Amino acid sequence: MDITDRVALVTGGAKRVGKAIALGLANAGARVFIHYNSSVGPAEETLAEIEKVGGFGAIGSVDLGNPDAAPGLLAMAADALGDVSILVNSASGFATDTFEDLTLEGWQRSHSLTLASPVFLTQAFAGALGSEAEGAVVNITDVRTTSPYLKHFSYVIAKGGIDTFTRAAARALAPRIRVNAVALGVILPPPGEDAAYVEALAAELPLRRAGGTDPVVDAALHLIRNDFVTGEIVRVDGGGHLT
Ligand SMILES: NC(=O)c1ccc[n+]([C@@H]2O[C@H](COP(=O)([O-])OP(=O)(O)OC[C@H]3O[C@@H](n4cnc5c(N)ncnc54)[C@H](OP(=O)(O)O)[C@@H]3O)[C@@H](O)[C@H]2O)c1
Repeated sequence: MDITDRVALVTGGAKRVGKAIALGLANAGARVFIHYNSSVGPAEETLAEIEKVGGFGAIGSVDLGNPDAAPGLLAMAADALGDVSILVNSASGFATDTFEDLTLEGWQRSHSLTLASPVFLTQAFAGALGSEAEGAVVNITDVRTTSPYLKHFSYVIAKGGIDTFTRAAARALAPRIRVNAVALGVILPPPGEDAAYVEALAAELPLRRAGGTDPVVDAALHLIRNDFVTGEIVRVDGGGHLT
């Protein structure tokens, strides 16, 4: 797929990983709709960075804690920029809970934001894409789905659902739409943690460093561009899955 002049929607695109992917898509020539929840200032700054280098984009806020809102987000992006043919599901929660203290409410909150909203946003995306048009979806998941965190219990199970959803949707939406995922390892410190937190984790990796966002952007763009890849989950984890 040639990314030039396509419309891309990036959820959680105002900051951090989502922002890097939004900028990467804009640099590749896409018009990018930057979705945010609460980060209006960072969303405006990300859009300004795109416009400064001659790109086009728009921003819009939707609370994806409510999966019913997902189709409205797709319509908002299409109204602003035209038909969306690239969707990146990056917005996510990162709840702290364990099997022992898990509550039904916390479970449902995690699963609504991290699993159900990407599913129903993808459903809306596929429904809106013209019958002759090609589309690409990239889900952002977590390498820890195969060696699960115990302190982010509902989150890691929701991301495991994203892995299965990636494969199932790749089958359901072929050949018109390809659905792939990037599984992140140690990329950035979680909100509230500092560089030392990440350095300690990175010291355990075969490649001995945190990834930063550039390798994530590279993987996402590769999966969007490569027309013969669907249902793939690319690990960007410094070899962490090997240890
Ligand atoms: N950072 C890492 O090292 C790492 C590692 C493994 C996996 N990942 C995955 O990579 C993706 C991006 O990571 P990140 O660290 O950049 O994520 P993040 O900062 O934890 O969150 C990304 C965005 O999710 C949005 N969000 C939160 N609650 C929302 C809601 N109710 N409705 C709509 N949007 C909401 C936030 O938007 P607002 O700021 O606008 O509120 C936030 O900017 C996530 O899917 C994450 O699970 C990251």
